[in-house]
Amino acid sequence: MRWVEEPVRACVPATSANLGPGFDSLGLALGLHDEVEARVVPSGLSIDVSGEGAADVADAGEKHLVVRAMRAAFDDLGVGQPSGLALRCVNRIPHGRGLGSSAAAIVAGVLAARALAGASVGPDDALPLASELEGHPDNVAPCLYGGLTISWMAGSPEAGGSRGSSPRASTARAVRLEPLAQITPVVVIPAAPVSTNVARGLLPAAVPHADAARNAGRAALLIAALTARPEALLDGTEDRLHQDYRAPVMPATHDLLARLRAASLPAVVSGAGPSVLVLLVSRHGLDKLDPIGRETGIEWRISPLDLGRQGASAAPGVPAPGEAGQSSPGRLTLFRDMDGCKGMPWVSSVLG
Ligand SMILES: Nc1ncnc2c1ncn2[C@@H]1O[C@H](COP(=O)(O)OP(=O)(O)OP(=O)(O)O)[C@@H](O)[C@H]1O
Ligand SMILES: [Mg+2]
Repeated sequence: MRWVEEPVRACVPATSANLGPGFDSLGLALGLHDEVEARVVPSGLSIDVSGEGAADVADAGEKHLVVRAMRAAFDDLGVGQPSGLALRCVNRIPHGRGLGSSAAAIVAGVLAARALAGASVGPDDALPLASELEGHPDNVAPCLYGGLTISWMAGSPEAGGSRGSSPRASTARAVRLEPLAQITPVVVIPAAPVSTNVARGLLPAAVPHADAARNAGRAALLIAALTARPEALLDGTEDRLHQDYRAPVMPATHDLLARLRAASLPAVVSGAGPSVLVLLVSRHGLDKLDPIGRETGIEWRISPLDLGRQGASAAPGVPAPGEAGQSSPGRLTLFRDMDGCKGMPWVSSVLG
């Protein structure tokens, strides 16, 4: 195998899945990115990690999620494994907070491996394996395509259409939509993480038909609200299928969610939590978030982000990764990011 000699750099956005009623289906890409630089070396595996979660994942070796995804992608391509790998990871996406860090790591690994092998790095090519490794496309789809995505597993339930079932029996699919430019996603992040698997275990096997029917209508409304009718965002983000069931493992999240929605702010649990995503229109209501957050009695990082319009990218010979994100908690936080990873510092104005 003739590997690309230069280092390749993958740039992958944070994502928020579910968006309230779009459980396991809707996802939004956010303007907060992890970067991975990968190159083939004569032997061994070296991983340099800075930023979010570095202390937990730096020594993971072959178990490091980016490495596991790269190994799987090399196998998937049938190109064999390289003699050695050197990685530099700049992490800005907090881990275990419902912001798609695992999907971002997997997508970074799949795209970096494909780029090193000289294979295409288009989202359609990466979606099947990334979805299989993550277990579901709800975060990997917006990570790969950017914008707003509806994702699903095509095929009958018997053929394996549900989360965690045999991925080869069904196929991950995604449709990308353009969210309205005036929507500002604000992530409100608590200090302590919650495992996606723990949160998932709390869901009941069956739900009342009335709740399912109501959610289906709200999910359809949410698509309209995000792409054309922002005044419908509060109603469109109402959920009956998952958020309340997970409240016991994230009571502060639930408390914050109830307070924000009572103030007419379209707030949802981000992914499996415990972060909250607030979808502001023209930043209206941004000044309410800090006082409402304080009412819960715990500290939150409140970060207005850009919409992640561009999906993940990977290319050889690009500049080295930038500075890692700030991990210290604070009420209103500006993440340091790259503007679509094009090399320009990311700047955001807050509170005017
Ligand atoms: N950049 C990364 N490098 C290595 N491992 C990572 C990275 N990002 C995430 N992980 C792994 O994924 C775990 C977090 O995955 P988990 O699915 O629980 O949370 P999340 O992806 O941040 O949130 P959600 O899935 O709800 O959006 C981390 O504890 C770590 O093991
Ligand atoms: Mg995850």
